[in-house]
Amino acid sequence: MATPIVTIDGPSGSGKGTVSRAVASIVSWHRLDSGALYRLVALVGREQGLAPDDVKRHAEAALAMDVSFLEGPEGERVLLGGQDVTAELRSESAGAGASRVAAWPQVRQALLERQQAFARPPGLVADGRDMGTVVFPRAEVKIFLTASPEERALRRYKQLKDKGSGVSLAALSREIAERDARDTTRRAAPLKPAPDAHVIDSTGLAIEEVVGRVLTLGRSRSLWP
Ligand code: DC
Repeated sequence: MATPIVTIDGPSGSGKGTVSRAVASIVSWHRLDSGALYRLVALVGREQGLAPDDVKRHAEAALAMDVSFLEGPEGERVLLGGQDVTAELRSESAGAGASRVAAWPQVRQALLERQQAFARPPGLVADGRDMGTVVFPRAEVKIFLTASPEERALRRYKQLKDKGSGVSLAALSREIAERDARDTTRRAAPLKPAPDAHVIDSTGLAIEEVVGRVLTLGRSRSLWP
């Protein structure tokens, strides 16, 4: 039998990372943070000094990169060629770079099999923009998580402030609007709900409520007790 999969797609700041991490931990499934892979491609491109529009070399770098995700005492760590790059990946500039390279079909194609290889028993919770539409179209449960742009900007602001970043709320709101526009209007795998996705608007909801809804949906499909 194929490994069961739950996909959680949505725009930046919708809470999909936090929700998928919590669900995967509660049911002891694997997790794929697909956004981290796009962030890594942007980072590698910058480190290798690739021209910002050199699609072919970015796609080659995406195929070649040596990545591992580790669960440590301070949460998840991302290693690139054995080096811990977690902090660099979380920055807004890495997010903006990721959104740019993610618009290129060649880069998306280069990352496709790597993402699908995360599906291992007992199950996978995968979050991103196209998990339910392109990467795992046969997923058992598909969620599309949204929230108002104001709330998403505020959440990202709090997250970054907790990490000591001095970014302003106004700058973040602009950044989120730009990223939304790019991610939803690109030709290759644009951000949109799969036809069979459950849309959850998390504006005004606590994380626990959203996690509870996902757990209920999985239970109703007998994915877990
Ligand atoms: O989820 P995130 O903020 O880490 O994602 C960063 C960027 O990567 C996002 O703006 C668009 C891109 N992305 C994508 O195109 N497809 C995915 N499955 C995940 C991320």
